[in-house]
Amino acid sequence: MIRTSLTRAIEFPAGHRYERTDWTESENEARFGRCYRPPGHGHNYRVEVTVCGEPNPETGMIVDLGELDGILQREVVEPMDHAFLNELPEFAGGLIPTTENLSHVIWNRLEHRLPGNIVLVTVRVREDRNLWAECTKS
Ligand code: NI
Repeated sequence: MIRTSLTRAIEFPAGHRYERTDWTESENEARFGRCYRPPGHGHNYRVEVTVCGEPNPETGMIVDLGELDGILQREVVEPMDHAFLNELPEFAGGLIPTTENLSHVIWNRLEHRLPGNIVLVTVRVREDRNLWAECTKS
């Protein structure tokens, strides 16, 4: 069986900082290095979201792109663009905003908000061209 997927990419700059408040300064410096330095630093994130589904025989599309874009805008771009990621509700409790954790947060924001006829396959978050993380359903 052939499975058809579609990937949409969005890009935005955002800041973050790695710090565990239950660790000492030297523990944070040893583990997180420059990522611990206040007040934080930024990346130009690229998020690639892949969905799969059956192409609609009339439109040839598995999802209305405008609808998908609206969801990405509302759930990812608006809250994260030019934001300090540590202040998002998911990270405010101390979860470190690593690339890995950010991909998981975006997965959770999208998974149950997509139209019912498509399935979320992959959320890939690129921090720069040499580092990325992705969530996939196993
Ligand atoms: Ni960083």
